[in-house]
Amino acid sequence: MIKVASPQIGRQEIAAVEEVLLSGQYVSGRKVDEFETLFSEYVGVDYSVAVNSGTAALHSALDVLGIGPGDEVIVPALTFFSTVTAVVHQAGVPIFCDISLDNFCLDPDDLLRRITPRTKAIIAVHYFGHAAEMDAINQIAKRYGLAVIEDCAQAHGTTYKGRKVGSLGDMGAYSFFATKHMTTGEGGIVTTNDVKANEKMRSFRSHGMEGRHDHVMLGYNYRMTEIAAAIGIIQLDKLDELNEKRIKASEYLIEQLSGVSWLTMPKVPSYVRHTYFWCHAMINEDLVGQSTQSVIQTLRNKGVEVRERYTEPLYRQPMLTHFIPPILQLSGGANLPAYGDLNLPNVEQAAGRIIGLPNRPDITQAELDKVVESVLSIG
Ligand SMILES: Cc1ncc(COP(=O)(O)O)c(C=O)c1O
Repeated sequence: MIKVASPQIGRQEIAAVEEVLLSGQYVSGRKVDEFETLFSEYVGVDYSVAVNSGTAALHSALDVLGIGPGDEVIVPALTFFSTVTAVVHQAGVPIFCDISLDNFCLDPDDLLRRITPRTKAIIAVHYFGHAAEMDAINQIAKRYGLAVIEDCAQAHGTTYKGRKVGSLGDMGAYSFFATKHMTTGEGGIVTTNDVKANEKMRSFRSHGMEGRHDHVMLGYNYRMTEIAAAIGIIQLDKLDELNEKRIKASEYLIEQLSGVSWLTMPKVPSYVRHTYFWCHAMINEDLVGQSTQSVIQTLRNKGVEVRERYTEPLYRQPMLTHFIPPILQLSGGANLPAYGDLNLPNVEQAAGRIIGLPNRPDITQAELDKVVESVLSIG
């Protein structure tokens, strides 16, 4: 099977982990400090706060922005579910927004329609490594006094008009889960230029502690380990090189498959450096004359692993339609949307029809050709 993703780990990471294990210091040490400094330099921000997942990064960012019961946060309806649960963890109300079919990120026109007097923040997801339209999103945010969190969990190294994602809004949240452009096993980081947010998040990630004994706020154990940070330092150093390979593989697939009538391959504006979490392609089921599931099965039968992201609009997830609303009612969210009744046209069109083709940095030319040949044999 030609795999979509595989962690790019080598001798250096193993040696770095060994060094930490032998040092006896596993948390809150030199490696986390160094990783945070290097990550800030890479993204082009003043501060980074390392945590133990991308979800923890989103939650920390929302907390530090003061999102609380009943506050509305606008999120795209096609993304990983924790973009939404991070809002709910703060008893905030997720408000779903449609996406643009050009980049699968927040549609700024629909964003405008979702704003109410209770809106406090926007989470812009840089989906699949494509940057969201940050100029338009920031302009809207400025006009209505809203905070912007960038969900960069799929976009390490992506740039928008020459600047790295994570430096364009108020806060950036990254994930270092095993399949991402760079990994620490599990891990995450928040990027910001706000000195107060930086200080508060350090307390939030460590039981709300100030000093050794005082718990001054509600916090969590969101600390990144020294082991994870040691891996992160090496991975960050390799990131640009790994991304180049990912981009090259994706561009080859795009070039070879752009003539396939039933597939929409990525189209990238000149001001975006797309880093292709996967090489995404949208299927037109009418043109290919079969379901997306059947295309996926055929590719798998031919030895090509395929990802499908995401298969349902998030507003249809049982947790939102059945479980979350009572919790939000209790915590003050009086204006809950009827999530089950939502129907956002572009999200409906894209959900369940986007596949991710293999583009891992170590994919071989023979494997890429096999992917092309397998796709061309369909339809
Ligand atoms: C867009 C998006 N946001 C948030 C997350 C959450 O990151 P983590 O799995 O590290 O908690 C992910 C992870 O896949 C993601 O893809």
